[in-house]
Amino acid sequence: MKITITGTGYVGLVTGTCLAEIGHQITCFDIDKEKISLLNEGISPIYEPGLGELIQRNIDSGRLTFSSNPVEAYSNAECIFIAVGTPANEDGSANLSFLEAAAIQIAEQIKKDIIVVIKSTVPVGTNERIGSIIQERVPPNIKIEMVSNPEFLREGTAIHDTFHGDRIVIGANTEEAGKQIGNIYEPLHLPIVHTDIRSAEMIKYASNSFLALKISFINEIANLCEKIGADIDQVSAGVGLDNRIGKKFLNAGIGFGGSCFPKDIHALNYLAKEFDYDFKILQSVIDVNYRQKDLLFYKAKEHFGSLAGKRTTILGLTFKPNTDDIREAASLRIIQDLLLEGAVVTVFDPVAMPKVEKLFGDKISFAVSSEQALVDAEAAFILTEWDEIKSIKLKEIKDKMTEPIIFDGRNCFSLEETKKYGIRYYSIGRPVVQ
Ligand SMILES: NC(=O)c1ccc[n+]([C@@H]2O[C@H](COP(=O)([O-])OP(=O)(O)OC[C@H]3O[C@@H](n4cnc5c(N)ncnc54)[C@H](O)[C@@H]3O)[C@@H](O)[C@H]2O)c1
Repeated sequence: MKITITGTGYVGLVTGTCLAEIGHQITCFDIDKEKISLLNEGISPIYEPGLGELIQRNIDSGRLTFSSNPVEAYSNAECIFIAVGTPANEDGSANLSFLEAAAIQIAEQIKKDIIVVIKSTVPVGTNERIGSIIQERVPPNIKIEMVSNPEFLREGTAIHDTFHGDRIVIGANTEEAGKQIGNIYEPLHLPIVHTDIRSAEMIKYASNSFLALKISFINEIANLCEKIGADIDQVSAGVGLDNRIGKKFLNAGIGFGGSCFPKDIHALNYLAKEFDYDFKILQSVIDVNYRQKDLLFYKAKEHFGSLAGKRTTILGLTFKPNTDDIREAASLRIIQDLLLEGAVVTVFDPVAMPKVEKLFGDKISFAVSSEQALVDAEAAFILTEWDEIKSIKLKEIKDKMTEPIIFDGRNCFSLEETKKYGIRYYSIGRPVVQ
């Protein structure tokens, strides 16, 4: 099928490339001309393991093209998938301006009946609204059918998730439209859940909110473990063996970040308020996560009394490993906190330093390796569990730092090992190693 993907970000680019891989003719369209010219040279503008090779293979096969020209992108499309960003507004609601602009641009180019699929995460009712925006702008003989097809891929494992996802959700008003979109995914042989449009939109928010809730819940248990002398790693292992609960999303840490969970739970909370529903659990998930992100900073402050002039190191800047995404990452809050206290901050991350440099410039220093970042540091914060950070030798930490003190937001090291090396070790939900 000839498909145009609108928005060539994490979701659009991965979806487009994977749909090309299973045989469809894909045009990825983006208003960002710089992105498109990189892609036309076969360069991926985002870091996602395996994506660069897959893009190149499908460009070579002639099934994947990139364009910033709406006429070229939309006039011959048999189906359009919209995957533009839906960031949070100040008040927590979803910002649908990119989606609305894309809808207007699509309407200007459409010459025949078409299915428009919204892949972006959107509040319930958005497909109807976007459908009307397009329908009002095309000649009356042209029929626009909307289909909601929320995305569940995770950055860092996005290609694997697309080919091996748990389910594909397709929300449509007619059986025929749902079937047509289902056929596109048929070669993936994944379970397809057909629903009405509003339910499909809700499935995405409910899924992300539940996962966020699991994280905030285990973080609350971890905080309590610290107070009462239990060890969260042992507690999580014991709890996770219960099949009804499951092991995933039970790692205590410094809260969730990224481009999805924070904005999606805020958007669902906003939606609930609009419908006069007090979604108490969701508000708690938000509050707990906010507090959790500052936890390590306050532990350090309590330890040192004052952080003014302290040489601090941050290892890991992304909101999770294997991505270059720093949106809502705990590192940004902690860097800000440390700078406000007058600390000297050096950071290291395997991929995200250019993005962080754009935000903080010369207010902080950038090391070329984690080892270099640790030289003469008085406190080290571990914020992302990249393999190269988890595998740092504790001896190296002890030798390089002035005073070996680690504030670990990802529980990367065992308490016994850190004790053996004489490192002061603060982690999450476990006893302090003095
Ligand atoms: N990133 C994830 O892991 C993930 C997972 C599931 C769902 N989602 C959802 O998918 C959507 C996209 O997320 P993302 O992370 O890929 O966003 P992104 O910010 O990485 O990419 C969005 C892209 O859309 C482009 N764009 C904006 N307006 C456009 C227009 N009118 N026409 C064409 N392109 C336009 C931007 O230039 C950008 O390249 C969001 O709603 C998000 O919540 C994201």
